[in-house]
Amino acid sequence: MTDKLFLTTLNGIKSLQTPIWVMRQAGRYLEEYRAIRATQKDFISFCLNPQQASTVTLQPITRYNMDAAIIFSDILMVPWAMGLNVRFEPGIGPLLDAVEEPDMIKAGCLSNLTDKLAPVGEALEITKLSLPTETSLIGFAGAPWTLITYIAEGGSSRDFTKARLWAWQDAKKLDGLLEILTDATISFLSLQATAGAECLMIFDSWASAVPAAHRDWLITQPINTIIKGVRKNGHQQPIIGFPKGLGDGLIHYAEESGIDAIGLDHGVDPGWAGRNLPKNLPVQGNLDPLSLISAGKEMLRDIDYILESFHDRPHIFNLGHGITPSTPVENVQIMIDHIRKG
Ligand code: CP3
Repeated sequence: MTDKLFLTTLNGIKSLQTPIWVMRQAGRYLEEYRAIRATQKDFISFCLNPQQASTVTLQPITRYNMDAAIIFSDILMVPWAMGLNVRFEPGIGPLLDAVEEPDMIKAGCLSNLTDKLAPVGEALEITKLSLPTETSLIGFAGAPWTLITYIAEGGSSRDFTKARLWAWQDAKKLDGLLEILTDATISFLSLQATAGAECLMIFDSWASAVPAAHRDWLITQPINTIIKGVRKNGHQQPIIGFPKGLGDGLIHYAEESGIDAIGLDHGVDPGWAGRNLPKNLPVQGNLDPLSLISAGKEMLRDIDYILESFHDRPHIFNLGHGITPSTPVENVQIMIDHIRKG
């Protein structure tokens, strides 16, 4: 049995304390992150610098004693390793060479994937050496559909037109790309599990864009294949799925994807989730990150509602999406103190 609160909870056991961590906890709201970021040439080489990546991974642990550390990396490291010329432009966000048709990406592009992503494994190994014994280490990857939205549009998108058209018009070709991305994700997660990640998380940040008729094909089944692939490679770490914006589709996803725990975004009513998700399935979430900007009594009330809604199932406290750069650091402490006081 582990003495790590985060892992115990993921294993289905509820403790008196609720474990806490925050998506994007290693990021720009921290001045110590911005100081290191300013010394880095570009975001990709920052992610591929094991020493620096480990340092920023540990920053929120040192400052807040979070129950879990998530390795500093990015979901777009997989398209980068596939040779899609991923770069991050300040003020714009991620850019990739857009692909005209889904079948323009060939399986051959995966040949060097694990070599290229090896520094992420090294960052995990280094981090594990410095992590407090009670803190868990999370590795992660993007889900195939979410990666497809970036690959189709060549960057972020508002309505995901091209990826959705691919789904309606080029199903066969899209299937080929799904398979390539599924294989890549199995390799990337397995690499992180081997390097010491104690939990794996799959971010499907744009699950909301998938038409309901296609959810099983584009969301649930690929996650199921990824989980089977990771297990086949011998890794037993718990896997958290985060299908953001899936709404009522969360029930099917929770039952059929094979995930061990489900991350909830702030659009989900915790009361509904508590009543409708499979009994005793561990959940993670789901405070609106923007409530932290003022951290007033409305935020405290919502924290109480979230805790109360999940009082009878394993629950990891988190935000419903990544913390925003303008969040005052002291407000994160107010949130944590309120959760840990109980
Ligand atoms: O602390 C952590 O959570 C670990 C590190 C982490 C990052 N990205 C670092 C990062 C994690 C888990 C991610 C996941 C990620 N990346 C997602 C899924 C989660 C989500 O937010 O929905 C997505 C969609 C991405 C893609 C991505 N990376 C975008 C769209 C951007 C630019 C947007 C922005 O906020 O500027 C990034 C860049 C990025 N990834 C930053 C960080 C800390 C900021 C860039 C910087 O410091 O210059």
